[in-house]
Amino acid sequence: MKTSGGSDAAKRRAGESAAGTVDDGDVVGLGTGSTAAHAIRRLGERVDAGLDIRGVATSFASRELAIECGIPLLDLDEAVGADAPGIDLAIDGADQVAVGGTGDAGDSFAPALIKGGGAAHAREKLVDATADRFLVVADPSKEAAVLDRAVPVEVLASGRSVVAEAVRAVGGEPTLRRAERKDGPVVTDNGNLVLDCAFGDIPEPAALATTLSTTPGVVEHGIFVDLADEVHVGTTSDVRVLT
Ligand code: 5RP
Repeated sequence: MKTSGGSDAAKRRAGESAAGTVDDGDVVGLGTGSTAAHAIRRLGERVDAGLDIRGVATSFASRELAIECGIPLLDLDEAVGADAPGIDLAIDGADQVAVGGTGDAGDSFAPALIKGGGAAHAREKLVDATADRFLVVADPSKEAAVLDRAVPVEVLASGRSVVAEAVRAVGGEPTLRRAERKDGPVVTDNGNLVLDCAFGDIPEPAALATTLSTTPGVVEHGIFVDLADEVHVGTTSDVRVLT
């Protein structure tokens, strides 16, 4: 599983802290990335010790890891719907976290996130938004006063140029994400492409999220607003839980 910047020990503390909040009987959304992987591994250890949970994977990679760790899984369609148990909580990483808010006045704790470094943000948003509680796990390198990382935008392959033009029209600079070791673009678990769109500072992420969501050809973008309930930030020695 891909590891981005930040210390692995800090990521582990964050992931294990969030995994420690899971109770017997919970249905747990299992995020994607190196920090969420620590939570999945700790949940696997707790399952070995008798914890009774079921996981809902947010990607092929998190599904594979959960199977390796012995966590029983449900499909999203089995977890949600009439007579379905629902998702009690989701634990997922982020590429950037601005705890300052979404740009909506009156929100005291309204973290805005950029996700999608692992190109899994479409399914991550489905699972994280559906869960009763969404716990973000991160290390301090992810914290920012204002979001400014490029926003991953999953697009239909046939809509790639149309979306790129729409992004330029609202001040963004799109770059097609290319696979690191292969000669070609990254293809998501859903068979789509990813445009990483640089906007510079994003002081009003909620407004940009709406613009991207209403652009034809966009499958999903990586701005997550009004979704996170807690942020577990692992440090070199401790964990800060922001609520
Ligand atoms: C995948 C994600 C990841 O959660 C995000 O990229 C953080 O990854 P990591 O914990 O490896 O830094 O959004 O789509």
